Amino acid sequence: MTKKIACIILAAGKGTRMKSALPKPLHPVAGAPMVQHVIAAAEGLSPERIVVVVGPDMPEMIDAVRPHQTAVQQTQNGTGGAALAAREALKDFDGDVLVVFGDSPLITTASLQRMIDIRRQFPAVGLTFSGMRPKDAGRYGRMVLDDDGTLKKIVEFKDASAEEKAITLCNGGIVAADGAKLFGWLAQIGNDNAQGEYYLTDLPPIARKDNRQTLVVEIDEAELAGANTRVELAALEHAMQQRLREKHMLNGATLTHPESVFFCADTVIGQDVIIGPNVVFGPQARVADNVEILPFCHIEGTEIAEGATIGPFARLRPGSRIGENAKVGNFVETKNTRLGKGAKANHLTYLGDADIGDKTNIGAGVITCNYDGFLKYKTSVGGDAFIGSNTALVAPVTIGTGAIIGAGSTITKDVPDNALGITRAPQINKDGWAPEFRQKKMKEKAKKG
Ligand code: UD1
Ligand code: CA
Repeated sequence: MTKKIACIILAAGKGTRMKSALPKPLHPVAGAPMVQHVIAAAEGLSPERIVVVVGPDMPEMIDAVRPHQTAVQQTQNGTGGAALAAREALKDFDGDVLVVFGDSPLITTASLQRMIDIRRQFPAVGLTFSGMRPKDAGRYGRMVLDDDGTLKKIVEFKDASAEEKAITLCNGGIVAADGAKLFGWLAQIGNDNAQGEYYLTDLPPIARKDNRQTLVVEIDEAELAGANTRVELAALEHAMQQRLREKHMLNGATLTHPESVFFCADTVIGQDVIIGPNVVFGPQARVADNVEILPFCHIEGTEIAEGATIGPFARLRPGSRIGENAKVGNFVETKNTRLGKGAKANHLTYLGDADIGDKTNIGAGVITCNYDGFLKYKTSVGGDAFIGSNTALVAPVTIGTGAIIGAGSTITKDVPDNALGITRAPQINKDGWAPEFRQKKMKEKAKKG
């Protein structure tokens, strides 16, 4: 029988060094709170349960980690105290327990799995701790190995002697433990240290007294990096973006200048999609195959169907659905709008709360007036219609299939199928008027000197 796994994610810390009202694990990386990246990596293990440890007043955290359960750490007295706070939530659980920090968004499922596999391999091993050899060991906890290669203890930077600070093997923070033993060991942790905190890192000597050893599983520094400051947060964002760019390119998208394209963790990109420079994806963007996105576009909450062309300089806001082979051109903004198959909105347009039929052409400068300062209204345009340039469509309004709207119209009434709708004032031409006007004006100017 494969043993079950439970994950405890620690997210109760104050994150003082972030200088923020927002709890640290809620700071976003690639458009999602850091804690959600950790949850996604943990979910990859198909654990029986994920418990997120939160502080006493963190309603936003509870929302962000749903549907997973939370446990409250009443006083933020250290990582050991935080892990112990999950005891009640796991009291009927029998299996392996993984403890992961909520501020390490780059960790992968494969590495978490490796920590569990190695622990399970040897019955004498009660714990595995993640280790790393960073280029700059900074203020990480230092790992002291025994002669037999097992982990003797971890010394937190603030408690370390000069000799210990010279150790290059650092604690990455993740722990895999025999669930039958973990909480008993956690309860034995004391707080006799420089910070007066209950350190999760005190577990190895406690387990050893119980005849169980601790092994270090070395993981790439790049996966264990956490963010204690916003400078480090920016470094995590950079690393995550690099990972996402590579993922999409390996999946068959061409990025002509990858460094200037920004993805969210949930961005979906099809095959043979071409993305030009300076394109930014916000949350919930889905792009089908064979789409071309020209430079300088901002796309969020949008679905783009196969073969569509977007940009340059387009802004697709939440609720936009761009149909197959449709075209959205420069300085076009869409919001809560469906653009039908083969429809075109190529220049300087705002389409909000609109439904545009297949093959309809939206001329330059067309604006849907969807908001009267109080409420939003819908514009419907049938298929094969033509909306002349610089038209204002004052919603709620419906334009029929095959209808044509004269340029410069302000349309406030519905237009039937195949009709011409036009609201332009009639044009008057006065023959020879211009030279007379010029002469008159030149005289006036001469008088003034
Ligand atoms: C911790 C390790 C250190 C390791 C480093 C790796 C300990 C004592 N130290 O230090 O050895 O090198 O991570 O990044 O474990 N948290 C709580 N409740 C608390 C305190 C923290 O839930 O009372 C949570 C935080 O929200 C955070 C995580 O635990 O997600 C880690 O806390 P943090 O303060 O960042 O630990 P470090 O000082 O970085
Ligand atoms: Ca940290």
